[in-house]
Amino acid sequence: MPQPALASGRYLLTCALFAAPPALVLAVLAAAGLVGVGTALVALAAIAACNAAILRYYQREAVRIADYLEHLAVESDDDRTRPPRPQTDLGRALIGNVSRLQRGWRARTRRMIAQVEEAAVILERMQDPVVVLDAGRHVTRANAAARALFGERMVGRDLAETLRHPAVLALVDSVLKDGGERSMEHAQSLPVGRVFELRVVRFERAGPPDDPADREGAASPGALVTLHDITAIRRSEQMRADFVANASHELRTPLSTLIGFIETLRGPARDDPEAQARFLAIMHEQASRMSRLIADLLALSRIEVDEHTLPSGKVDLLRVLRGVFAALELKASNREVVLRLDAPETLPELPGDEDQLTQVFQNLVDNAVKYTRPATEVVVAVTVQEAAGRAPLVAVTVRDQGEGIDRAHLPRLTERFYRVDAARSRAMGGTGLGLAIVKHIVSRHRGRLLIESRLGEGSTFTVLLPLAPAAGGLSGPAGWIEQAGAAVTKA
Ligand SMILES: Nc1ncnc2c1ncn2[C@@H]1O[C@H](COP(=O)(O)OP(=O)(O)O)[C@@H](O)[C@H]1O
Ligand SMILES: [Mg+2]
Repeated sequence: MPQPALASGRYLLTCALFAAPPALVLAVLAAAGLVGVGTALVALAAIAACNAAILRYYQREAVRIADYLEHLAVESDDDRTRPPRPQTDLGRALIGNVSRLQRGWRARTRRMIAQVEEAAVILERMQDPVVVLDAGRHVTRANAAARALFGERMVGRDLAETLRHPAVLALVDSVLKDGGERSMEHAQSLPVGRVFELRVVRFERAGPPDDPADREGAASPGALVTLHDITAIRRSEQMRADFVANASHELRTPLSTLIGFIETLRGPARDDPEAQARFLAIMHEQASRMSRLIADLLALSRIEVDEHTLPSGKVDLLRVLRGVFAALELKASNREVVLRLDAPETLPELPGDEDQLTQVFQNLVDNAVKYTRPATEVVVAVTVQEAAGRAPLVAVTVRDQGEGIDRAHLPRLTERFYRVDAARSRAMGGTGLGLAIVKHIVSRHRGRLLIESRLGEGSTFTVLLPLAPAAGGLSGPAGWIEQAGAAVTKA
C-alpha cells in the first residue's frame, strides 16, 4: 500500500514549521500579558491540530497521484487502471494533464505499432525476394518470396549456407565493408531456372535494445539484399534475337535460290528455253514463298499491335467457315481430302474481327488438309457450349486423320517458326508462322486454343470463343494458350 510521501519524521517537522509562526505570535502575546499562558497553549494546540489535518489531507492526495504515476510508468498496454479521483484543484489539474498525456502516448504507440505491422506485411508480401543481413552476414529477416526461393531455414544463419555463390557472397561482403549499393545478375537453377538482378545496399540497423552488448541501441551496419526476377526480360530478348535470326534465315534460303537461278538463266541456260521454263517455275515458287512469309510476318506484327484491345465487330462464324472451305476446296481435292462442316443451322453472331477469325480457321483447316493422310476427311465441328455459372461459348474443332503430333512438341507448337518437320513444312509451302498467328488472334478474342493429338490417329485443334464480349474472357491472362496447348494432350 501507499508509502507516505513524507516520512513521519519529516511530517512532524513540517507540522512544527507550520505551527512556528502562530507559536511565536502567541508567545509574544503571552509575554506581553495580553493572553494567558494556558489560553495561548490551547490556541497553539488547536492551530497545530488544524495544520496537521490539512497537511495530511494534501499528503494523501499527493501519495495517490504519485502511486498512479508510478503505476503508469510500468503499465502494460492492456492495463486499464482508472486514475484516482483528486480532491483538490491542483490534483484535478495534474491528473487531467497526465490523462491527456497518457491518451496521446497510447494513440501514438498504436499508430507506430500499426505502421510497423504494415511495413512487415508489405515486406512479407513483396513479390521480389528480400533478405536483411546483419554486419556478420547473418540473415535477420527474409520475406516469404525469399524463404520460398532459399528455404525456410535461412533466417538466423550465415547467408553462405543458403546462397553458395562466391560472386554473390563477395559482393555482399564488399558492400558490408565499404558501404554503397551494388548489383549483379544472378542465375538460380533451383527450383526452376530463373535469372535475377541481385542488388545489395548497406544501411544502418538500429541495434536491438535488449542486446546485452548494445544497451544504447547504437546503429550497426547491415545489408539489404533484393532479387528482382528478370527471367521474362532475358527470355523475351532471346526470343527477339531468335526471331530475327529465324526470319532472316527463312528469307535467305529462297533468295539465294532465286539469285542462283537468275545467274543460271543469264549464263548456261541463256539459250535453253526448256530449262528456262523449268527454272522460272521454281523461281515463281520461291518468290511466292518469300511473299507468303512476308505476308505472315506482317500479319503477325499487325496482330501484336492490337492484341490487347478487344475486337469490336460482329462475326457470322458459319459464313467465315464456308468461306474458308471455298478457299481450300481445290487444295483439298488435290489430295482427295473431303472437307466436312458439322454445324448447327444457325449460330448467334459472336463478337470478333471477321478477317482475323478467317485467318485462324484458314490456318487450322489448311494445316489439317496438309497434314491429314490423302483421301481422308477433315471435319470442322461447331457447337455452342452453355454451362451454369459460365459465359456461353462457341467451340470450333478442326479434326484431321494425319499422323498426329508427338506430345513433346505440343507445348512449342505455337512458337514462331516452330515446326515438327521443317523440311516437310517448307515443301508444303508452310512458313511455320500459322499457329503463332492463330494463338495471338485467339488470345485477342479472349478465347482458348486446345491441341490434342494421338500419334497415328490424327490431331484436333479446338478454338473456344466467348459468345458475349466477356471482360475476363475464357483465357484470363494472355499467355494461357500455350499452357493449354501443353496441358491438353491425349497420349
Ligand atoms: N494438323 C496437324 N497435324 C500435324 N502437325 C501439325 C498440324 N498442324 C500443325 N502441325 C505442326 O505444327 C507446325 C506449325 O504449324 P504452322 O505454324 O501452321 O506452320 P506451317 O507453316 O508449317 O503450317 C507444322 O509445321 C507442323 O509440324
Ligand atoms: Mg500452317
